[in-house]
Amino acid sequence: MKRSWIECYQIDMVDMMSTTVTISKLNEHVGETVTLAGWLYNSRIGSKVAFLIVRDGTGLCQGVVTKEEVEPEVFADAVHLTQESSVRVTGLVHADERAVGGYELHVTGLEPVHSAVEYPITLKAHGHDFLFKHRHLWLRSRRPTAIMKIRHTVIDAVRRFFNDNGFVLVDTPIFAPSAGEGAQTLFSVDYFGEPMYLAQTGQLYLESAAMAYGKVYCFGPTFRAEKSKTRRHLTEFWMVEPEIAYADLDDVMAVAEDFVYTIAQRVLAEHRADLEFLGQDVAVLERIRKPFYRLTYSQAVDILHGPQARELLEKDLAEKNARIEELKQSIPAKEQERDRPGVKKYRQEQLAAEVITEREELADLQEQVKNIPTHMELAAGFEWGKDLGGSDETIISRLHDRPVFVTHYPRGCKAFYMKQDPHDSRLVKNFDLLAPDGYGEIIGGSQREDDLDVLLERMAEEGLATEPYEWYLDLRRYGSVPHGGFGLGIERTVAWLCGLRHIRETIAYPRLMGKVYP
Ligand code: 4AD
Ligand code: MG
Repeated sequence: MKRSWIECYQIDMVDMMSTTVTISKLNEHVGETVTLAGWLYNSRIGSKVAFLIVRDGTGLCQGVVTKEEVEPEVFADAVHLTQESSVRVTGLVHADERAVGGYELHVTGLEPVHSAVEYPITLKAHGHDFLFKHRHLWLRSRRPTAIMKIRHTVIDAVRRFFNDNGFVLVDTPIFAPSAGEGAQTLFSVDYFGEPMYLAQTGQLYLESAAMAYGKVYCFGPTFRAEKSKTRRHLTEFWMVEPEIAYADLDDVMAVAEDFVYTIAQRVLAEHRADLEFLGQDVAVLERIRKPFYRLTYSQAVDILHGPQARELLEKDLAEKNARIEELKQSIPAKEQERDRPGVKKYRQEQLAAEVITEREELADLQEQVKNIPTHMELAAGFEWGKDLGGSDETIISRLHDRPVFVTHYPRGCKAFYMKQDPHDSRLVKNFDLLAPDGYGEIIGGSQREDDLDVLLERMAEEGLATEPYEWYLDLRRYGSVPHGGFGLGIERTVAWLCGLRHIRETIAYPRLMGKVYP
């Protein structure tokens, strides 16, 4: 039978090319000749052999090009490939425990796709400002790759948890006509001449969906005009919020506990190598067990006033000051060695990189040391009735090695929709879940006020006009039931699981006050 031209073409292509596989699947192709489609991450060129480290988004693989065994053009191409040039590499797959990723490619062919001009991010250290300015390229590096993959798994675990447990996804609007949380953090936009806001939460809409479908969740970007430049705040972040009808505070907390535990287990099961690469102590995640700790707000305030908090901060101060002294000696010593005549280039670069890292650490520590006395004062002088501040949360969460629920806050410092505690009308039936080891709040949640009169009273207390909320109040007029839910911030959760000091690394393009490029 005569073959069509397309069949002939396909057969020719198969003869010409080996199968293209991803680096993550090399284990299935040991002993076969395959092609990798990727970018040159790094190379080491000798006179007889060139080592090309290629990345393809799924991993890194070393290709070995031996001059004697390949066509002269192949070796010449290998020598001339620049960092981050795109390239197809064909070769025989060998298992090699010592190789990065565990496999090596004995290269037989190279097909340069695009030759990169001088790449700004070298394998040496760069300062954070420089890296964030080059975020569009920096995403290719190993550290952001590890973090983005963990973020991906966290989000997958989030969706699975709710989908597998009978929750219905209901997407809530991003254009919102009224505040869902505090009015101080609203971003306003011009909506055809009408004032409108970017959603701070999907919760109020989600409550209506819970009255329709029982168990629901929403997951999307949320916006807060946070004027604070802290390591925990973004102006745009992703929040997942479940809402459950016929549920009280304990029911909601049980879901939150199960949920966070499940996410942490998933990350631990799939990302040990990434966590270790990031320098995260895996034991931190292995310690996460149910039940989490439970404190009332009043107990948390007692801790802030007590000797434990003071001792913790005093110890911190001493340790940080000691490290500052160390750095103050080591930085100039390294600079001197770097500038000494006759120092080898690789050593110069290594020292320059260490100086950058140590300078950043020093600046960070000096900032922290400056703040510790304030944090001590804030804790010791904490007045019952105020919301816990970032430093207060840090203290509570540093004193615990598993997540800790803080419940029953004074109603004056929390949102209007929270259910009044029937045993003590000064309090609401809410919780914040603090991640351990100083990470602070990752979840805020509560049972909702389901009594129309109490809710109206509370809104009046807050000076909230009822008109924009009439639809929300309807939920208390037509079959009101006890219900509640919570919101988990994806970025804070990823920062905690990865052990990152700053939230900005947990999202591809962080939005902070004064930072929107690229
Ligand atoms: O505590 P929040 O403000 O709670 C709510 O928005 C409720 N409506 C949720 C609910 O009950 N359905 O925010 C929830 C979580 C916080 O615990 C934190 O993890 C994250 O959202 N979050 C932020 N993350 C990054 N940057 C910010 N500026 C954040 N503000 C809140
Ligand atoms: Mg909160």
